[in-house]
Amino acid sequence: MTEREQRTAEAIVRAVAEAPDAQSAMTRAVAGLRAHRPEYTWVGIYLLDGDELVLGPFLGTPSPHTRIPLDRGLCGAAAREKRTIVVDEVSADPRYLACSLETRSEIVVPILDGDRVLGEIDIDSDAPAAFGPGDRALVERVAAALAPRLAP
Ligand code: SME
Repeated sequence: MTEREQRTAEAIVRAVAEAPDAQSAMTRAVAGLRAHRPEYTWVGIYLLDGDELVLGPFLGTPSPHTRIPLDRGLCGAAAREKRTIVVDEVSADPRYLACSLETRSEIVVPILDGDRVLGEIDIDSDAPAAFGPGDRALVERVAAALAPRLAP
């Protein structure tokens, strides 16, 4: 991670840890990530509810995908596979569910409590290949900080 990514990660991790409840922890994480880079066009958190992902706090244009079954989309794939998915060009990925016609690239990072998926952080960008290793490390750090706040 660059120094700036590290500073952002530390600030968000602190804000998440100090949040009074899970809802504000998620809101703080979304706001902190959205402010990190203008290329992060849409930032949101989905929470696992049974076999669906339900949209929680987000910043950006409202998405039509407020509930995503686990067998659909990049979001479903990241939750099923319990690993980060980075897509440099969404139009080339058949799993992609369109949220905005402007979106070119996407990262989805599961929020894991051990082996259990609690939810995920989803970021869309209007720029192609917007998410490099530093972005991935940053979002994964934020997901790890959110896990204890979301674990029942
Ligand atoms: N693109 C996601 C759907 C969610 S919207 O991007 C907010 C997917 O393929 O699962």
